[in-house]
Amino acid sequence: MTDGSKKIDAQQREHSDPYEGSHPVPKFVFALITLTFCWAIYYIASSNLSNQPELGDHRTMADLAPQAGSKSGVVDGAQIFAAQCVACHQAGGTGLPGVFPPLAGSEWVMGKESTLVQILLHGISGSLTVKGTVYKGEMPVFKDKLNDAEIAAVLTYVRSSFGNAAGKVDAALVKTGREASKDRKLPWSGDDELGKLK
Ligand code: HEC
Repeated sequence: MTDGSKKIDAQQREHSDPYEGSHPVPKFVFALITLTFCWAIYYIASSNLSNQPELGDHRTMADLAPQAGSKSGVVDGAQIFAAQCVACHQAGGTGLPGVFPPLAGSEWVMGKESTLVQILLHGISGSLTVKGTVYKGEMPVFKDKLNDAEIAAVLTYVRSSFGNAAGKVDAALVKTGREASKDRKLPWSGDDELGKLK
């Protein structure tokens, strides 16, 4: 009798035997992974690839913007170049091999003025051949950042610097180019479109 009740106590103290159940990863974890993944794709797709200060001298577009133009009313092309273009095309207009095309000796810079104006106004997206090398980058849009006189000044500067020797660009030409292409919303698709304007 006493033996029997001891045995039952001992049995009750025991934990139940371990068993292997099926506990799959909860559905919400999968949902979370899917959501994070979709967000990442959206983030990459919607990020602005044009502004990459880390590829230049680490100044952001915000640092550079106020320096455009000049205080005295005389528009200084060199100053605009230093503020708006140097990060990618480099101080000597050499660009960065394989990433940013050179302005020095470029057929686009020394070519037709009206095409050059269009490049500045609307930017380029798509492959562009410069001095025999194909670049697949994004040239930013300047139509809202620079006015006619500023675009004319910076283009005149690049056409007459870095060993380039081409004529000046008039603000009136920029104005005409801006009006003629005012309905354009997208950047030029590189050689495909610009080749025809060459
Ligand atoms: C964010 C980098 C970046 C900035 C800033 C930039 N460019 Fe560009 N630019 C490019 C890239 C990249 C291309 C080539 C586009 C392609 O590959 O489709 C290009 C192409 C050009 C071209 C035609 C190709 C050539 O090398 O002649 C000209 C002209 C030009 N840029 C002038 C300018 C001027 C002037 C400025 C300043 C007002 C400027 N760019 C600012 C990146 C930039």
